Amino acid sequence: MVLGATGVAGQQFVAALSGHPWFSLARLCASERSAGRSYGQALRDERGSLRWYAGGEPPPESLDLPVIAAKEATTDGIDLVFSAVESDAAKELEPKFAASVPVFSTASAFRYEPDVPILLPGVNRDHAKLIRTQQQRRGFAGFIAPGPNCTTVGLAMTLAPIRAAFGLRRVVMTSLQAVSGAGRSPGVAALDVIDNIIPYIPGEEEKVERETRKILGDCLGESDAARAISPLSVAVSCTCTRVAVLDGHTEAVFCETERPAPLDEVKAALLSFGSELRALNLPSCPAQLIAVTDDPFRPQPRLDRDHGQGMTTVVGRLRPEQALGPHGVKYVLLSHNTKMGAAQGALLTAEQLLVDGYFR
Ligand SMILES: NC(=O)c1ccc[n+]([C@@H]2O[C@H](COP(=O)([O-])OP(=O)(O)OC[C@H]3O[C@@H](n4cnc5c(N)ncnc54)[C@H](OP(=O)(O)O)[C@@H]3O)[C@@H](O)[C@H]2O)c1
Repeated sequence: MVLGATGVAGQQFVAALSGHPWFSLARLCASERSAGRSYGQALRDERGSLRWYAGGEPPPESLDLPVIAAKEATTDGIDLVFSAVESDAAKELEPKFAASVPVFSTASAFRYEPDVPILLPGVNRDHAKLIRTQQQRRGFAGFIAPGPNCTTVGLAMTLAPIRAAFGLRRVVMTSLQAVSGAGRSPGVAALDVIDNIIPYIPGEEEKVERETRKILGDCLGESDAARAISPLSVAVSCTCTRVAVLDGHTEAVFCETERPAPLDEVKAALLSFGSELRALNLPSCPAQLIAVTDDPFRPQPRLDRDHGQGMTTVVGRLRPEQALGPHGVKYVLLSHNTKMGAAQGALLTAEQLLVDGYFR
């Protein structure tokens, strides 16, 4: 079942679930505005214009499925839920469904709760243990497993191997975020963003700073009752901006490392990252979690966002960084915000948790 199936992230779930070898699309939910129509009708605006943002055409088998109001949906006959609704709606809906089945969410509603991990494939597999704590505390038969904010994804993904190889002291990041990251409604008006850069995205910087520390933190405690995440004690400072790009968040990252970080070793650490995840042969896992380009004019959103079907973070412009401290590295990354940064990233997490035995 997909919640928010008509939205930008929800459409990506519908597209990715079409032909998925393990999961199939059973039920589509949205707000009461869309309920009672077929999915094909609900994707069209009042003038009949198709509002489809996931590339190509909507999967034909989805078009006749009825759209149900999420607040009236049940989990009868459903094994898992993918949620792509705004945080306010997620707060109400996700616990209702998690009482019986796993809920994989793109929303921020539960990311900061102490018994909820923020799962990023390849980075913090051990944090999934917190799901048992959550189930015990909340009496859920299912669970809520949110992914990170789309801007956090590329940052935490690239910092993980750098931290593992060289230690990390502080991080400064400026993002140039695509308009699809703001969703379909209200979204970002073309009149505001074309020929422009908007230097503020409310709440975004705090989310990225907090989530990065939580994702890279340690999951402590032996028993389910005692388990908790101790955030990484590294200063993370962000400036998040919106630019006139359709899909793909670009980020300029500056890190101070604890030990010297020669560029060839940084590159090797980035390129080899994720071997444990790749070995699982999960359907949504790309051949590379991180790609590195030596072309000084890359990564570019138009050229690089679909690398690995939008699941690979592309890093370029690797250079030494010395302004923050004696050792460090700086680079530019690009991560697809609605694919690895939202729906397909959540799907990959679901595949991993299935293999790891968190649900059947
Ligand atoms: N866009 C991204 O790149 C991205 C990346 C990562 C995470 N996210 C997160 O994903 C979530 C969805 O974002 P989006 O960009 O896809 O937004 P969006 O394009 O505005 O879509 C919102 C979806 O939620 C539905 N909805 C709205 N109110 C609802 C309610 N009360 N009950 C049930 N459904 C409701 C809408 O249905 P109607 O069509 O019926 O209005 C629509 O399907 C947000 O939490 C966002 O932070 C988005």
